[in-house]
Amino acid sequence: MKVLVTGGTGYIGSHTCVQLLESGYSVVVVDNLSNSSEKVIDRIKRITGKSLKFYKVDLLDKPALDEIFENEQFDAVMHFAGLKAVGESVMVPLDYYNNNITGTVNLCYVMKKHNVKKLVFSSSATVYGNPASLPITEDFPVSATNPYGRTKLMIEYILKDLYSSDNEWDIAILRYFNPVGAHKSGLIGESPRGIPNNLVPYIAMVAVGKLPYLNVYGADYDTPDGSGVRDYIHVVDLANGHIKAIEKLKNKVGVVTYNLGTGKGYSVFEIIESYKKASKKEIPYKIMPRRPGDIASCYADTSKAQRELEFKAVYGIDDMCSDSWRWQEMNINGYE
Ligand code: NAD
Ligand code: WQD
Repeated sequence: MKVLVTGGTGYIGSHTCVQLLESGYSVVVVDNLSNSSEKVIDRIKRITGKSLKFYKVDLLDKPALDEIFENEQFDAVMHFAGLKAVGESVMVPLDYYNNNITGTVNLCYVMKKHNVKKLVFSSSATVYGNPASLPITEDFPVSATNPYGRTKLMIEYILKDLYSSDNEWDIAILRYFNPVGAHKSGLIGESPRGIPNNLVPYIAMVAVGKLPYLNVYGADYDTPDGSGVRDYIHVVDLANGHIKAIEKLKNKVGVVTYNLGTGKGYSVFEIIESYKKASKKEIPYKIMPRRPGDIASCYADTSKAQRELEFKAVYGIDDMCSDSWRWQEMNINGYE
């Protein structure tokens, strides 16, 4: 089975390419390298001992995308390509709407033209906004508080409309909680450009000595220790969730939506402790005001994915932190 992976040189896409190749799929990557490095392709080859094809193409370039579909006969598409920085999306919303929404619409046009109608889409727990209760099930009301989140929500609606217009499609919408960690080899991981926005990559920079201390955004939340609680999921578990989803799409399912998380919430202070243990480094921090837009707690009800995909995350926070640290130590400047 041949799978097109858009955004396949990115953080989650690269880990999913490894799991796809190791599960016997043939893989073709399309990425414009706006937030990743072509070096990832060689790393994936080194890890798996298998080859994969790479096209440096932008999803906004519909003719180029169409040509790839002319040359390759895909059975399914995993669509990771997109811009993902919440703060940046507030500054340059048009870039986010253009890249994420137009990119996805182009992809769907080309898929439809070539009769490729199986799609796995990277959505986000951000579509739950500020949930009224926890844990979060897939049927919770959805909303978004920033342009990035709105692109995810709009794409979900676009995909549902597409299915309503043509029931030959089978689409899995996967709502990720907080992906962290790296492949055990230390060869692929998260390599953010500039100062990281997300907690674990920021801690990694502090541990490796590139940033002086962590800002803890709020210690006065209504949580056990006052800091924000999130459902962190190891990126390899997340990648395996995609394998389960693509297997599911081999049957006629229509549009299905799954949370991919562990179901457990950990606080910022718990992550700091685990990272200290993994890295054997001090993680100095300062308590700062809450970050605008943040919620106190967020974690998934994972029972639907467990029941319908037979997916259950196996890695805990100590694995997440030690694998993140191995990647960081082995690649002090990421892929640069
Ligand atoms: P990433 O930035 O590492 O990977 C995205 C990849 O897409 C990059 O390699 C980038 O170069 C590529 N890309 C972006 N726009 C493109 C375009 N127009 N054409 C071709 N390639 C393009 O991000 P990631 O963390 O791997 O996230 C993958 C997907 O998962 C994204 O859609 C993101 O919104 C979603 N997601 C991520 C998280 C997270 O915390 N990392 C959480 C929930 C959902
Ligand atoms: C986690 C916790 C922060 C950084 C974001 C997106 C979401 C999804 C995943 C794409 C929070 C605290 C963080 C720091 C801190 N991405 N924190 N100091 O905000 O849960 O989710 O990434 O879809 O859409 O919003 O993740 O890693 O930024 O924050 O104290 O320097 O760590 O306040 O409690 P978040 P995060």
